[in-house]
Amino acid sequence: MTVRTILKMGDPRLLRVAKTVTEFDTDTLHLLISDMLDTMIAAGGVGLAAPQIGVDLQLVIFGTGEPSARYPDAPPVPRTVLVNPTITPLPGSLVDTAPDEEDDWEGCLSVPGLRGLVPRYAHIRYTGWDQYGDRIDRTAGGFHARVVQHECDHLLGRLYPTRMRDLTRFGYTDVLFPGVEVEDE
Ligand code: NI
Repeated sequence: MTVRTILKMGDPRLLRVAKTVTEFDTDTLHLLISDMLDTMIAAGGVGLAAPQIGVDLQLVIFGTGEPSARYPDAPPVPRTVLVNPTITPLPGSLVDTAPDEEDDWEGCLSVPGLRGLVPRYAHIRYTGWDQYGDRIDRTAGGFHARVVQHECDHLLGRLYPTRMRDLTRFGYTDVLFPGVEVEDE
């Protein structure tokens, strides 16, 4: 079990566009994923991207398989390893073909102690591969879609404050939500 150091906002390694993973099912990749899981669980997070531990690869993990403390009524996000991902926004409905956006609060293990209100696509399709090179192709909405978009942003060198449109909705978690325990991405 190896808990790695999570880089914090200000570290230039969080601003890189991550490199494509070219080899699957290798000892190196499995060890990296094992460390990322240990690190995410130790930090009480709901997702972690490889760049957050200084590894410049398109690899994210997310989901606990259990209900979220923040969204106890949302279906649990399955524990997922996602490599070289692509996200496509989906239309809100058959009638309204523009993708829906919704605002909700996010935190990030690389931005500790803070939360911000972030617009994200409400419905997405995401594709990529798992650590064995098997294809992943899913649709997701709500919290699940939000977590995927947040993690994949790390692969583009984007942290959630750069997605915010109203910085008056940015603050310290214990001030915004006193007494509430919430996870970070
Ligand atoms: Ni994050």
